[in-house]
Amino acid sequence: MSKQKNIILIGFMGCGKTTCGKWIANNKPFDFIDTDQYIVDKERRSINEIFDHEGEPYFRRLETIVLKELLVSKDVRQKVFSVGGGLPITKENRPLLKQLGYVVYLRTSIDELVKRLNKDTQRPLLAGGNVRDKIISLMEKRKDIYEQIADKIIDTDGKDIKHIYEEITCDKWTKY
Ligand code: S3P
Repeated sequence: MSKQKNIILIGFMGCGKTTCGKWIANNKPFDFIDTDQYIVDKERRSINEIFDHEGEPYFRRLETIVLKELLVSKDVRQKVFSVGGGLPITKENRPLLKQLGYVVYLRTSIDELVKRLNKDTQRPLLAGGNVRDKIISLMEKRKDIYEQIADKIIDTDGKDIKHIYEEITCDKWTKY
């Protein structure tokens, strides 16, 4: 399958994928799809409930199923996708993401992520214990993968949403 004209936002929890995705969808002729929301709608329960009742491997399988469904869907052009922070970590998902579109990694510092996620109650992988330690340990396993699969990396610290949006959409390929 050839590369679709879609934007795929990847990055750690709290890096701003959903906010940026919605912003792009409001300012460009793109629809917004959030894989977490897609899973929540399909399962009719929250991410916390899925993790609690079925465990993380089940959730990871759902992420792969969603990607495959999106790839075969006829209506998968001119979309901006926000994918869960752990989705690119499943090896099978990486070529699927690349097929789906142009992969943009929103890279955010640990300090900034801690600020944003300290009080979070929606992310099961950060529940209990020290949030900074959890972020550091997950990021250690993930950062090289995010960087390797990205077509473009944007450092988000200190940038407002409009600035990030402009960096994402300045590339020639997104101009119609
Ligand atoms: C996860 C990130 C979450 C969600 C789930 C697991 C992860 O999505 O998919 O809680 O493993 O990093 P966001 O990155 O949108 O918070």
